[in-house]
Amino acid sequence: MSAHGEPTPMKSRKCGPLQGVAEVPGDKSISHRALILGALALGETRITGLLEGDDVLDTARAMRSLGAEVVDHGGGEWSVTGVGVGGFSEPDAVIDCGNSGTGVRLIMGAMASCPIAVTFTGDASLRSRPMGRITGPLSLFGTQSYGRSGGRLPMTIVGAADPVAVRYVMEVPSAQVKSAVLLAGLNAVGQTVVIEHEATRDHTERMLAGFGADITVEETDVGRVITLTGQPELQAQDIVVPRDPSSAAFPVCAALIVEGSDVLVPGIGLNPTRAGLFTTLREMGADLTYENERIEGGEPVADLRARYSPDMRGIEVPATRAASMIDEYPILSVVAANATGRTVMRGVKELRVKECDRIDAMARGLQANGVTIEEDEDTLIVTGRGAGTVAGGGTCKTHLDHRIAMSFMCLGMASEAPVSIDDGAPITTSFPIFSPLMAALGARLEQVN
Ligand code: S3P
Repeated sequence: MSAHGEPTPMKSRKCGPLQGVAEVPGDKSISHRALILGALALGETRITGLLEGDDVLDTARAMRSLGAEVVDHGGGEWSVTGVGVGGFSEPDAVIDCGNSGTGVRLIMGAMASCPIAVTFTGDASLRSRPMGRITGPLSLFGTQSYGRSGGRLPMTIVGAADPVAVRYVMEVPSAQVKSAVLLAGLNAVGQTVVIEHEATRDHTERMLAGFGADITVEETDVGRVITLTGQPELQAQDIVVPRDPSSAAFPVCAALIVEGSDVLVPGIGLNPTRAGLFTTLREMGADLTYENERIEGGEPVADLRARYSPDMRGIEVPATRAASMIDEYPILSVVAANATGRTVMRGVKELRVKECDRIDAMARGLQANGVTIEEDEDTLIVTGRGAGTVAGGGTCKTHLDHRIAMSFMCLGMASEAPVSIDDGAPITTSFPIFSPLMAALGARLEQVN
């Protein structure tokens, strides 16, 4: 069931060619960060192309309850009048981050060095996810946390009254953890240093620099060393949010597996820390091209063109690429089921602590539709038999996970029998226009009552 309503069972049937232009919504990661940094800046930040999915709307509400003025001007135009670094005020109610791990973890970081107490909760999925990976490093600033067993929500964070800068070596490759530490470092005296061995998405670093923070990133023998000088005055910015590569993945991959398709997905952010899926698809033999490559708002952007690719081959996806496509393994496994041979995805154990255990959810759902799967704690292997050969006919559980829901809807578009999901409601967290957008391209999706 979704966070905000009843379950919405859905079915996806084999369809004719997908054709046309798919204008996917704004980037979820960048949208969260634009709201949070706007709330910590002085002056009015204007945001164009904000993702208006449930996750980001929950973050907008949270910024209001911490004292920022957040205004929706319509059509993806938003403004945030910030309170300045260290200026958050204590909310008078619990902050509900819905389904969003990014939202709750970044906001915990942003308030961790302010002398206020905030209680966080979320939906059943978010309440089952580990927060210890955030509260551990935040405790180094002097922040205290009181949550349920296993470090789970609901949880109260008491921000540090006299935060001092920290040096933190990342234990898991996680942009959420890195970002939480950097955001906490904003109000700490001195230089906060974060060292990551595997590069994760770097939107926080880029955006902090854009807002005027003193931040440096060095590639060294011990990894990426990020150094942030605390207590800057952040200046309000105009931010244009690029379209989300993680959402683009769905029309792109659907076009690759549906016979005769040719789809253009314009204006997609291709930050190298996010574009691992597209590299992987091209290695598999996908007819996927980048057109009109350009830089917009400090992020690399291109128009993606995806055409039906019946000759894709399974490959070994390097574990070193995992962080740059961590959200795309579910849809990659759908493409893999339509390729020839084995696609081996190693180094993917982080998938087990996403909105659901994504290795388990994809394995069970693909098996229910006749696909051969092997898995262990850190690996998913899909054996494909070629384009359009998946039997289908199965019903998949989505476990409150938007990307699992959309992946199985794409599977149905190229399978012999329809593919069903128990609940498509979570799709609104990241891609509220998924169903009409895919239908306009030619998909046959329906709600089942
Ligand atoms: C995100 C980071 C990733 C990703 C999530 C968005 C972010 O999580 O899965 O959807 O915006 O920082 P981790 O940092 O935990 O890997």
